[in-house]
Amino acid sequence: MSLRVENITKRFGAQEALRGVTIEAREGEFVVLLGPSGCGKSTLLRIIAGLEEPDEGTVNLRGRDITRAQPHHRDVAMVFQGYALYPHMTVAQNIGFPLRVRRRPTSEISAEVERIGARLGLSHLLRNLPKQLSGGERQRVALARAIIRRPQAFLMDEPLSNLDSRLRIDMRAELKHLQHELAVVTLYVTHDQVEAMTLASRIAILRDGLLQQYDTPSEVYRRPANLFVAGFVGSPSMNLLPGVVESGVFCRAGLSFGLTSDELRAIGARREITLGFRPEDVEFSATGNPGWTAARVWVTEDLGNETLIRLALDDVHVTLRAPAGTRADFDSLAWFRIRPEQLHWFDTHTTEAIRVSPQEH
Ligand SMILES: Nc1ncnc2c1ncn2[C@@H]1O[C@H](COP(=O)(O)OP(=O)(O)OP(=O)(O)O)[C@@H](O)[C@H]1O
Ligand SMILES: [Mg+2]
Repeated sequence: MSLRVENITKRFGAQEALRGVTIEAREGEFVVLLGPSGCGKSTLLRIIAGLEEPDEGTVNLRGRDITRAQPHHRDVAMVFQGYALYPHMTVAQNIGFPLRVRRRPTSEISAEVERIGARLGLSHLLRNLPKQLSGGERQRVALARAIIRRPQAFLMDEPLSNLDSRLRIDMRAELKHLQHELAVVTLYVTHDQVEAMTLASRIAILRDGLLQQYDTPSEVYRRPANLFVAGFVGSPSMNLLPGVVESGVFCRAGLSFGLTSDELRAIGARREITLGFRPEDVEFSATGNPGWTAARVWVTEDLGNETLIRLALDDVHVTLRAPAGTRADFDSLAWFRIRPEQLHWFDTHTTEAIRVSPQEH
C-alpha cells in the first residue's frame, strides 16, 4: 500500500471535521475526495501534508508512519487552489525553488527546470513573473513546482477551480495523462463531480466528516451505497421517490410498481422505501403507451446533444434524458417508463441501499 490514512478524527472545538476516516491508496492511484463544502476534504489533505495534526488516527506513507512528522520530512507535494506562487520570483525560480531549498547544484536545477517546464508547455514563459501569466499557466507552474521534487505523493486541493470551463477541461485531461506518466499516488480534492468521475481510479465521498463510500467511479455511479451518494453523484441527479410497499407493490402518488420476488426478498419487512432511477434510464413518449405513467411536462432543456425533460408527477419532478430535438410543450400530457432493470432501492429510514441479488438455485 502506498498511502494509508486510518481512522482519522479531527475536531475544531466542538466541530468534528473528520470522523474516523480510513482510506488506502495503491502505488500510482488517483484518489479523488468528493463532497459538499465543509465536509472535511481540505482538512484531510492538510493532515496528510502535516499542516494539521489529527486528534486520532494515523497517516502511513509507503510503510512509514508520518502522523507526527514535520511537513518537510514527509516527501509529499501539495498544490493549492490559489497556487501560492512567489510573486517576486520568475517562473523558472518558482519551479526550481524546492531544489534550491535542498541546495542542489545550480546546473542541475536549471536542467531540471527546463526539462519539466518543457513537459508542461512553459518553456517560453520561464523568465516571466507570475502576474504576467494566465490562470492556466500559473496552474501549470504550480504543478511543475510540485513535480520537480519527485515526491512520494501528490496532494491537490481543487487545483482547477480558478480556471474557466474550457481550460478546466483541457487541464483535466493533461493532469490525468501526467499523473499516469509519473505514477505517483495522488489525492485530489474537488466538489466537481465530472472531474471526480473522469480523473479518479477511486472516489472517496465525504459528508459531514464521514466517509460515505470509497470505490471506483463506475461502482459509485452504478451502486451508490446510500441516498446521499445516489443524489450527489451524477448530473442531473438520480430521481429519488419515497413510497411504501403494499402487498408486493411499491406505491407512491401517481406511480405503482410491481416488485419482483428478488426485490421483495431484499426489501424484507421494510415498508417505507425509496425508489431511485437515473435520468438516462427513463423512456419518454409524447403519446400514450399502454402501461406507461402519465405526467405533465414541467420544462424541457435542449442541450444540443440531448434534451432534458422534467415531468411533474403529482408533487414531485421526474427528470429524464431524451434524444436531441425531442419536443414537449409546457404543461402538455406526456408518458414515461422506467427501465425495470435499472432500479435502485433504498431504506428511507436508514438511507442505506437495499441490494437486490438474484435467488440462488
Ligand atoms: N482551522 C480551522 N478552525 C476551525 N474550524 C475549521 C478549521 N478548518 C476547517 N474547519 C471546519 O472544519 C470543517 C471542514 O472544513 P474543510 O476546509 O476541510 O472543508 P472542505 O470539504 O474542504 O470544504 P470546501 O469544499 O468548502 O473547501 C468545516 O466545517 C470548517 O468550518
Ligand atoms: Mg476545501
